[in-house]
Amino acid sequence: MIDVSLFSDRYSVRQTTSDDIGEIFDLCRKNELYYKYCSPFVTKQSVADGMKALPPKKKACDKYYLGYFDGDKLIAVMDFIMAYPDEKTAFIGFFMTDVSVQGKGVGSGIISDLCSYLKTCGLTGVRLGWVKGNPQAENFWRKNGFTETGITYNTDNYTVVVAQREL
Ligand SMILES: CC(C)(COP(=O)(O)OP(=O)(O)OC[C@H]1O[C@@H](n2cnc3c(N)ncnc32)[C@H](O)[C@@H]1OP(=O)(O)O)[C@@H](O)C(=O)NCCC(=O)NCCS
Repeated sequence: MIDVSLFSDRYSVRQTTSDDIGEIFDLCRKNELYYKYCSPFVTKQSVADGMKALPPKKKACDKYYLGYFDGDKLIAVMDFIMAYPDEKTAFIGFFMTDVSVQGKGVGSGIISDLCSYLKTCGLTGVRLGWVKGNPQAENFWRKNGFTETGITYNTDNYTVVVAQREL
């Protein structure tokens, strides 16, 4: 069993609810570059949909749509799936920091704390995908130790490159 409050040494982490949709939307809509590669642009409805979306064969009990808070301020959002695609692997479906904190190591710190905690839980890897051609996402994940698995898949609007970090 994981405890999301232990995901970060620096920030308060909790499951978000429908009450947080407005604040999450505000964080997302400022990240314009991301939506250039991963269209369509965010809406409050797409945030609500993202809170419920699950990979194939996964159940809601393994899904955590998390807010990272510095005091009251939402500084990052993460869609986290336990045990996907296998029991020993966690999956990050989405990760975004507020533009006001970017470029200061906040995102890397969050991923580093997360990987340390998941290792203590016995997980052996973290998997995710970046949109092919998005330099911000690709550079960020590479800098944080993720490497391509060789798997890619196409959606209607873009190609996803699947990457993994071993813990
Ligand atoms: C990617 C993201 C999470 C990084 O958050 P952050 O708090 O700025 O993270 P850090 O300060 O720890 O890392 C910054 C690194 O991101 C990468 N990066 C950030 N902006 C970039 C850009 N415009 N072009 C290329 N690389 C970029 C670089 O590797 C940079 O490291 P560097 O400063 O040593 O070059 C943030 O920019 C973001 O939320 N972007 C939009 C959403 C997104 O792309 N999420 C990832 C895919 S799900």
